[in-house]
Amino acid sequence: MSASRGEFSSRIGFIMAAAGSAVGLGNIWGFPTQTASNGGAAFVLVYLVLAFCLAYPAFMAELLIGRYGQANAVTSLQKMSRTLFHKRFAFVVGFGGVVCAALILSFYGVLAGWMMSYAVEPIARIVGVTNVADWVISQSFIRNALFTAIFMFLTIFIIQKGVEDGIEKWSKRLMPLLIVLLIILIGYVLTLDGASEGLNAYLNPDFSRIFEPDLLISALGQAFFSLSLGTSVMIIYGSYISKKENLVTLGAQVTLIDVSIAFLAGLLIIPAMYVAQAQGVTIFADDGSLVSGPGLVFAVLPSLFSSMGYIGLFVAFAFFVLMSVAALTSSISMLEGPVSYVVERHGMARKKATKIIGSIIFLISIGIISNVDVMLGLVATIATEYGQPIIAMLCCVFVGWIWYRNDVLMELKEGNDNAEHSVFWKIWPWYTKFVCPTAIGIVFIHSLNLF
Ligand code: PFF
Repeated sequence: MSASRGEFSSRIGFIMAAAGSAVGLGNIWGFPTQTASNGGAAFVLVYLVLAFCLAYPAFMAELLIGRYGQANAVTSLQKMSRTLFHKRFAFVVGFGGVVCAALILSFYGVLAGWMMSYAVEPIARIVGVTNVADWVISQSFIRNALFTAIFMFLTIFIIQKGVEDGIEKWSKRLMPLLIVLLIILIGYVLTLDGASEGLNAYLNPDFSRIFEPDLLISALGQAFFSLSLGTSVMIIYGSYISKKENLVTLGAQVTLIDVSIAFLAGLLIIPAMYVAQAQGVTIFADDGSLVSGPGLVFAVLPSLFSSMGYIGLFVAFAFFVLMSVAALTSSISMLEGPVSYVVERHGMARKKATKIIGSIIFLISIGIISNVDVMLGLVATIATEYGQPIIAMLCCVFVGWIWYRNDVLMELKEGNDNAEHSVFWKIWPWYTKFVCPTAIGIVFIHSLNLF
């Protein structure tokens, strides 16, 4: 079965693909932004702890479900179900994840389109077509629709080629490019005036904030978004991993790459903001907090690039290509969730399914673009603040309470003969059963401001 449904051809192929899904706008934009507005290094510390103690176990649960089931999220969850109730529950959780991935892609595609349009702008200036340069960075329905369409086209192009020729091949090409661009940009920004002040702000923790509930909620949400949890994506990627691989180490490696790139992105963005300040750009909002969100990426950083003169055009280009590449390796995973579901459950050909689903998601994006100010935040909140934590929690419940413990161990032992005697096996099962669902539940309820 696995031959016809595709499989990652190598360990590195999976690592690049899963890290590609994990590393995205969430790392390069979301993480530094959250860090800036949540006490600098205090947030980084909390994030690291939560990423390894809560997000990693939940991530392992999803990978295991997929590799055991060797199928899309719904079918995989149903394979471990024993009663009709379990099967229905499996459907709700799996299908919920598929819908969540589609919704995330619908707004993520709009943001990624902006990144691409900002990458075109410096090229247009270098070539001398100033009116095009001005148009691509001005807010308009047509501009948004055009660049979202281009981005969705690229996503569809890769996904219709399948697991090895599409996801794996492109992740292996794009991830190294992303890392090289990131390192070059950090190296350059750190040489500029004001960067050391930024480093200071980034790396000096304000410990008094570590236990603030809002900080904990933001850090956990960020960790879950970053590891693409609760979206069916890691279940389907898990299903493409060979049974010969040791999942425990693979999962840990992907988590490590994800947090490291988020940390590196902080080394770029926060010093860049202080460099901008040294050039006279305002980086603090009226309430004294650092500018974050769209204002940071589409106002502060572009002002910094333009204050650099001609070289700023190349820096701007590199930065927005970095953002676009990061977004693309994530968006392909979001499309793979729904596509694998339709291909496997409804027997549709991959190419056709990819085009149909990609077009439906694009139509949702058009709905978002038609009222960006309201819809973007709304869809993002529904999918990432409600959908992802609930579904990730239910996946842990599935593994901890429904799946037979012995079957879990058998699956873990594939590619890891010693699993039974490992520290992982001593901690993780009860962790997934009790700690993860409870912690996610508490943080989720707290984020609703119910108490
Ligand atoms: N992990 C991606 C990021 O940090 O930008 C976002 C993401 C990818 C969320 C895939 C959900 C998903 F299914």
